[in-house]
Amino acid sequence: MAIEIPSNGRSVGIIGGTGLTTLSGLEISGEKVVDTPWGKPSAPLVFGSLQGQRVVFLARHGHPHSIPPHQVNYRANMWALQQAGVNTVVGVNAVGGIHPDMVPAHIVIPDQLIDYTWGRGHTFFEEGAEGVTHIDFTFPYTDAVRHALIQAAESLGLAHSRVGVYAATQGPRLETAAEVLRLERDGCDIVGMTGMPEAALAAELNMSYGCLGLVVNWAAGKSAHIITMEEIEAAIDQGMAGVKAVLERAVSSLGR
Ligand code: HPA
Repeated sequence: MAIEIPSNGRSVGIIGGTGLTTLSGLEISGEKVVDTPWGKPSAPLVFGSLQGQRVVFLARHGHPHSIPPHQVNYRANMWALQQAGVNTVVGVNAVGGIHPDMVPAHIVIPDQLIDYTWGRGHTFFEEGAEGVTHIDFTFPYTDAVRHALIQAAESLGLAHSRVGVYAATQGPRLETAAEVLRLERDGCDIVGMTGMPEAALAAELNMSYGCLGLVVNWAAGKSAHIITMEEIEAAIDQGMAGVKAVLERAVSSLGR
């Protein structure tokens, strides 16, 4: 199905993860169920305006939250956003903290990632009718997007880290303590299940992309206790208002 492309200007895409299935503050102008050559995205696209900036919001896990990280149709999500006129995407990700600074409710704008996922539809370049395509992925996150998010967090006085290495794991289970030690030895600071292949697909579509991470628990073995959903929900309650504030503050510069 063809998706209408907004006539005046580009939109900022916001992909909400765990704890962000709707975006309060978004003045919604419409919703659209779309289809793509890669199948259906996780949820209808929600069109609206945030602080005067045209935004397309997409709930990564569906709305209500029902799609696990390894079953998200990342290709359909990114394709649908681009078809809807989006050229800049912020992926909001709940993560576990590995580095000692990455305490629950801390905001992280990573600058690097390591991909440990497998078996996901991770590329648009499946068959080489046009030859084999290798995109450059040296810097997986777009600097301009990162800087807008960092500036917003800074100006709001929110505790945040302006760099960090995101470990993308397969899920849906959380990691073992030994796995987290390995991630740490690999240089990872935070761990989440949805950062990839999203970032790489954005790069394949030539879209600007940044990750806004919210630490919602200490990664496995990094605290004296096991990880509980109560702990995660408490950190989401504590930190998501800050995430939304960063999005609101950053969005107009992201649209430029
Ligand atoms: N590991 C992987 N993904 C996550 C975590 C974690 O500890 N917390 C939130 N998403």
